[in-house]
Amino acid sequence: MDELLKIKEEALLKIHDCSSLKELNDLRVFYLGKKGPMQSAMKSMKDMSKEQRASFGQVSNKVKQEITQAIEEKRKVLEEAEMLKKIQNEKIDISLPGSQLPLGTIHPLTMIREELEDLFIGMGYSIAEGPEVESDHFNFELMNLPKDHPARDMQDTFYIDENTLLRTHTSPVQAHVMLAANGRGPIKVICPGKTYRRDDDDATHSHQFSQCEGLVIDKNITMADLKGTLELFAKKMFGEKREIRLRPSYFPFTEPSVEVDISCYNCNGKGCSMCKNTGWIEILGAGMVNPKVLEMCGFDSQVYQGFAFGIGLERVAMLKYGIDNIRDFYSGDLRFLNQFVRKD
Ligand code: DAH
Repeated sequence: MDELLKIKEEALLKIHDCSSLKELNDLRVFYLGKKGPMQSAMKSMKDMSKEQRASFGQVSNKVKQEITQAIEEKRKVLEEAEMLKKIQNEKIDISLPGSQLPLGTIHPLTMIREELEDLFIGMGYSIAEGPEVESDHFNFELMNLPKDHPARDMQDTFYIDENTLLRTHTSPVQAHVMLAANGRGPIKVICPGKTYRRDDDDATHSHQFSQCEGLVIDKNITMADLKGTLELFAKKMFGEKREIRLRPSYFPFTEPSVEVDISCYNCNGKGCSMCKNTGWIEILGAGMVNPKVLEMCGFDSQVYQGFAFGIGLERVAMLKYGIDNIRDFYSGDLRFLNQFVRKD
């Protein structure tokens, strides 16, 4: 009897300590199989009295039952642990970084254009486009630059034929938009796009460049509306502390016309090399739409007024990012382009 209880205790302990299904199966074969210690203990039954044999038989059956039950319970525990381990091992670690594909960056001119678009769309403007191959009529005549006008000299360009050319500015889009509106306001558009001039390329000139035109036409539009709009533009593009100043200027399509400066963001207006010690940086041209242009484009200048402005995108990008050679925009040099990673 003692022998049986000893076997039981030893078996239960081993079952408790065992850590794999294989080990558990070995224990089962050993303790419950034909050649195990139970079986040898049973051999002594033949020398026992009838009563002794009966109670020995009972105890040994009970021991077998207990061992069987302990094995079953342990099997469940081990099977569960094994399954858990398998699930753990098969889990995909989504935090593992994937292999990186080389991603391009946004071109700085595109960044500036999109920034402007976001800013003006936020103020209720829409975006208009016009052809880059333009007629003399739209590029010059409707902008109040007739054939013999001296201001045409500053805007020589590439001609397809006598009356067809690569546009010298985005201003002709004003005429397209006004004519499409059939004399009825309001109009609030910006027109970003490529422009061309027969210039010799150098650090600040390029035969191809980009502009963004702005045009607002409505009743009771004044210079104050223009100033407020451009002030917001200056602050959003160059920082909240920026101020603007308007200087009288001349453009045939606006009357009066102004040249717009922003207070230097480098020295805050004190004077430095960036602003040539003036505290101001020239940034764009603007003005009230010339009544002649309004009339030519189908608007009653007694009823409607408007303002317009033209922004050079390269100039804004050069100022904003401290770029000193306009050719960097077009040469496709990755060392330059890779520096422009958008933060949003
Ligand atoms: N079109 C002019 C240029 O290319 C820029 C400009 C000046 C546009 C004044 C305007 C404006 O709309 O009002 O030099």
